[in-house]
Amino acid sequence: LKIAGNMWRSTASRVVASLKNELLQSRSFIRGMQTVTLIPGDGIGPEISAAVVKIFVAAEVPIEWEERNVTAIQGPGGKWMIPHDAKESMDKTKIGLKGPLKTPVGAGHPSMNLLLRKTFDLYANVRPCMSIEGYDTPYTDVNLVTIRENTEGEYSGIEHVIVDGVVQSIKLITEQASQRIAEYAFEYAKNNQRSSVTAVHKANIMRMSDGLFLRKCREAAEKHKDIKFTEMYLDTVCLNMVQDPSQFDVLVMPNLYGDILSDLCAGLIGGLGVTPSGNIGAHGVAIFESVHGTAPDIAGKDLANPTALLLSAIMMLRHMGLRSHAQKIETACFDTIQDKKVLTKDLGGNAKCSEFTEAICQRVRDMK
Ligand SMILES: NC(=O)c1ccc[n+]([C@@H]2O[C@H](COP(=O)([O-])OP(=O)(O)OC[C@H]3O[C@@H](n4cnc5c(N)ncnc54)[C@H](O)[C@@H]3O)[C@@H](O)[C@H]2O)c1
Repeated sequence: LKIAGNMWRSTASRVVASLKNELLQSRSFIRGMQTVTLIPGDGIGPEISAAVVKIFVAAEVPIEWEERNVTAIQGPGGKWMIPHDAKESMDKTKIGLKGPLKTPVGAGHPSMNLLLRKTFDLYANVRPCMSIEGYDTPYTDVNLVTIRENTEGEYSGIEHVIVDGVVQSIKLITEQASQRIAEYAFEYAKNNQRSSVTAVHKANIMRMSDGLFLRKCREAAEKHKDIKFTEMYLDTVCLNMVQDPSQFDVLVMPNLYGDILSDLCAGLIGGLGVTPSGNIGAHGVAIFESVHGTAPDIAGKDLANPTALLLSAIMMLRHMGLRSHAQKIETACFDTIQDKKVLTKDLGGNAKCSEFTEAICQRVRDMK
């Protein structure tokens, strides 16, 4: 099984390579070609990345891929870092599409996702959650976006033992990071035709830390009076979210609350397999990624669902201003799901990843 898995992985790499060539050959015919760094990732990563590349070729998206592997390397002084060629590529292209990366237990290095976040100061995690017509869940009217502060809060990693049996973990909230994420939430709402922003907090309990976060949200709201602003306790948001998610639009929150609430919202629309995500960083860098893991149980078997990575890639196209290509691929993807004839197993069907991909490609080609 392992050999078969390796063979499939190398086939998937060859498919990416040949599709890249195909795209490169058509490059001279398309004006305004842009380069994007592609990090296929581990496990099912190469398969779902190959699927996205194939669909982009079918839709004639003017993108040239620069493929990079990301494994942890140790620099001077033993500092863990991402490989130089991956860093250089991202510094140049500013835009990345990333598959899942495994975090082996006891690997001795930090999670690659964390390293990427730190390297490019990816301060905002953005997850649009929209009900997919034809993919039945208990909710049909979800249309919201969670924006999570990604660099500090409870995930600052400052923990220590005070005395035996007593540990302390520090939640770090800074004015600068709170202001940056609050501003970003309002800018996002404005640029994406969204009408309201809700700040999610527990400033009644954590008066100083969440109090500072909330104050920065209120200040940003003052500057963006065209966007409605509300503030809500995290527990109230959770209660209201499961009762009626349609009341929410854009939600902005500190790191830990965002980690939990964004997964809760993904659950409302069918899970991580259909949820896109984007990480916005300093200096114009942005990395779009599927938020599920490497799915080692199905890796190399042509069973993976590429929807989450494809929707992340569509989000990336909108970020790059390629809106008509994004619309075309999104319609093809949602129509394929709605049609229910060719679906991967996790979506309730029996199709392979390659068959589902081809069904989307065919719809894209039919739209021409
Ligand atoms: N963003 C990331 O890079 C990321 C996120 C989570 C986990 N991970 C890593 O992934 C590895 C495995 O983690 P895990 O098993 O806890 O979670 P997982 O998401 O890989 O798998 C959970 C279950 O969901 C299924 N699944 C996930 N994605 C799917 C897809 N696209 N199509 C069909 N089924 C899918 C899997 O088959 C499995 O049954 C670990 O090394 C973990 O560190 C990476």
